[in-house]
Amino acid sequence: MSKLVVIDHPLVQHKMAMLRDKNLGTKGFRELVNEITMFLGYEVTRDLSVEDIEIETPLMKTTQKVISGKKLAIAPILRAGLGMVDGMLLLTPAAKVGHIGMFRDEETLEPQEYFFKMPQDIDEREVIVVDPMLATGGSAIMAIDSLVKRNVDPVNVKFVCLVAAPEGVKALQAAYPQVDIYTAALDEKLNEDGYILPGLGDAGDRLFGTL
Ligand code: PRP
Ligand code: URA
Repeated sequence: MSKLVVIDHPLVQHKMAMLRDKNLGTKGFRELVNEITMFLGYEVTRDLSVEDIEIETPLMKTTQKVISGKKLAIAPILRAGLGMVDGMLLLTPAAKVGHIGMFRDEETLEPQEYFFKMPQDIDEREVIVVDPMLATGGSAIMAIDSLVKRNVDPVNVKFVCLVAAPEGVKALQAAYPQVDIYTAALDEKLNEDGYILPGLGDAGDRLFGTL
């Protein structure tokens, strides 16, 4: 079974409380999504492999560690996942970015894919899929299905969100037991419209001011 990592650092909890507040405007929402993503990204990249290199400080020669191994790709699920790209790229500036366009049908809650563009060598990369909300899990699962169709091994995929519902975690873990999930909060449940409670509302609308 995959790991579920809830990043409950006090600074993350504090920023999440501000993010959930319905009175927070678009500018503040964007800034906080960016900041919280950096905390998540720090944990998500914790097990990147490293290798020794020789360098010379002003005082002596020394062996030090640098990142090695597979290259990274960040894969935001549009629209809301776009808000998490800059935060991830601040930590991993050389990562490539592939976009997955998807929206939930408001009646059926089924995801519909409308765009998919990945780096050509995506099957050789570690892929970090980002989307602020894991609700039913349908969008995350369909996004990973699309990556797998392009020969990405699910072992090389991580899913990062800000708020997860237990229903979404269960569905994603059942579909892809190899994919570790990182979240800033595990909330209570979904409401009858498929929104996470207490949640933060519609992440895409709050991020882009389309409420
Ligand atoms: C939201 C969110 C996820 C999806 C989660 O996107 O950003 O992609 O819903 O729901 P699920 O787990 O039940 O699939 P939405 O469809 O509202 O599109 P948007 O980002 O363009 O607003
Ligand atoms: N998508 C959102 O943006 N918010 C939710 O609560 C659920 C799905």
